[in-house]
Amino acid sequence: MTSHSNLNARSKAVLITGAAGGIGLALVSACLQHGWYVFANVRNQASWRSLQSTLEKQCSDSSQYCQPLVYDVTEPEKVKGAFNEIRKSGKQLQGLVNNAGVMQDSALGMTSLSDFTQQMTVNVTASFQHMQLAARLMTRQKSGSIVNVSSIVALDGSAGQVAYATSKAALLGMTKSAAKELAPSGISVNAVAPGFIDTKMTATYQDQKREKVLAQIALGHEGKPSDVSALVLHLLSTEAAYITGQTIKVDGMMKLN
Ligand SMILES: NC(=O)c1ccc[n+]([C@@H]2O[C@H](COP(=O)([O-])OP(=O)(O)OC[C@H]3O[C@@H](n4cnc5c(N)ncnc54)[C@H](OP(=O)(O)O)[C@@H]3O)[C@@H](O)[C@H]2O)c1
Repeated sequence: MTSHSNLNARSKAVLITGAAGGIGLALVSACLQHGWYVFANVRNQASWRSLQSTLEKQCSDSSQYCQPLVYDVTEPEKVKGAFNEIRKSGKQLQGLVNNAGVMQDSALGMTSLSDFTQQMTVNVTASFQHMQLAARLMTRQKSGSIVNVSSIVALDGSAGQVAYATSKAALLGMTKSAAKELAPSGISVNAVAPGFIDTKMTATYQDQKREKVLAQIALGHEGKPSDVSALVLHLLSTEAAYITGQTIKVDGMMKLN
């Protein structure tokens, strides 16, 4: 993994959606520690205050390089407004991480169309819009890197998660197609596929349910948010510019039943 620290690094900015979540916070911390200016998307002021206070404890001097963008990723006009703010800031948007996501466990027969649509809207449609608007800015500067946070369920399938897996698989088609389209503009597009990471999203997996999942992981334990952020940080870096259109697992070699 490489460091981004150089004299001009704070003019390079990254937008991270879902910044107050488990993986989101790790992403923000890692990017700040490696010299990025971070636009942190959060859903409300309370989430921003909590993120800010964690950052101040972790890396007091760099938290000044983190700017909140408060909006729901499923509101297209708000998303456009956020990109206008980024444009007006004068920072060069070099990175986008589509990290905001929702997961609802439910069997195929029990999944309502509205639950299916909600997961598609947050996980897919919002990522599409962010990628589209980021690509417009990045194309002008002829460089940039986009990372979509998918999941191993997109590759392997998962009983009880048909809707979620559908949404995360859609992200992979989007990633590969956009990678081809944006390559001539010097923009890389990749996906990461985490396995079972210890965050709020997996907190409902307790006791026997958790043991069952851990038994499917060769390394025998869940991943940490920082395991994901380390990979994303590398994919965002210029050193990874020759990697594009890829989906990289961070899963401790997990084999889903
Ligand atoms: N944890 C895992 O094992 C795992 C495995 C594979 C993939 N992933 C993916 O990793 C990403 C991060 O998940 P996580 O594990 O860090 O879970 P998390 O702690 O629940 O974080 C998810 C984040 O997404 C935000 N979000 C959800 N809907 C949003 C919306 N409409 N607008 C703006 N923000 C929204 C949440 O905001 P609020 O806090 O306001 O709800 C939260 O900050 C997700 O895309 C997830 O699917 C996670």
